[in-house]
Amino acid sequence: MSYEITPMKEDEIDIYIKVSWEALTQVEDSVLTLVYPDGFTESVQANMRKTTRDGLSDPSTSYVLIRDIDTKDVVAVACWYYQTKDVAIRELLDAEEKAREKRMEQGPIPGINYAVIDKFREASMESKREILAGRAHAALRVLSTLPAAQRKGAGTAGLIWGLRKADELGLPAYLVSSGMGRSLYAAHGFSEVGELSLDTSHHGRPHKVSHCCMLRAAKRISG
Ligand SMILES: CC(C)(COP(=O)(O)OP(=O)(O)OC[C@H]1O[C@@H](n2cnc3c(N)ncnc32)[C@H](O)[C@@H]1OP(=O)(O)O)[C@@H](O)C(=O)NCCC(=O)NCCS
Repeated sequence: MSYEITPMKEDEIDIYIKVSWEALTQVEDSVLTLVYPDGFTESVQANMRKTTRDGLSDPSTSYVLIRDIDTKDVVAVACWYYQTKDVAIRELLDAEEKAREKRMEQGPIPGINYAVIDKFREASMESKREILAGRAHAALRVLSTLPAAQRKGAGTAGLIWGLRKADELGLPAYLVSSGMGRSLYAAHGFSEVGELSLDTSHHGRPHKVSHCCMLRAAKRISG
């Protein structure tokens, strides 16, 4: 199967959100089912729309849509982040604190379990800080293929798209993988460098979320 990959435009945000949601909620140990206990409600969608719109205006972030070249239907989406300079740990901590304050100012949004989302976010940031120590890198933030379109190469296409750019910039690539993505990433040069295990049993129902942190060394393209 062949795919066409295009940068997401503002009027395509809803497609991006829907594909991400459908793919991620089918993951067996998905943290999303705990973060959004009431499901894909209007307030949850509005919040996702706002966060994605904010991300779209950040030049370090690339959202892409992956279309079946014949039908033109979007079957998968990806979000890549490129930090092209080293950053001091102090600066990273300050940026995290600022983001936290901004979220607090917004006030709570119905349908979001903040205790779980904050715990997961903090564990992710801490692992990333320990592994990368502020070094410049590319990060795969989202890679999602609609369940009906999986195992036909769309995920690989979105992964290779971002890795090419990482290689052009001479950056290592980092990601936090679900169980479903692990073998795909390993096949493209990523190694497991840490575990992100979250005991969420205090948050409503027994549930353990296990993800692994993966890193692929920088490759410089000559010429
Ligand atoms: C992970 C994911 C993006 C892969 O997308 P995809 O379009 O199916 O990927 P591809 O068709 O390019 O698959 C490439 C390889 O990934 C691996 N893979 C894909 N789905 C898998 C699954 N359910 N279980 C185990 N390995 C899987 C296989 O090695 C596969 O190669 P193969 O089909 O030749 O065996 C997709 O399964 C998905 O959206 N899952 C839910 C969201 C998620 O977990 N995203 C990753 C978070 S980092």
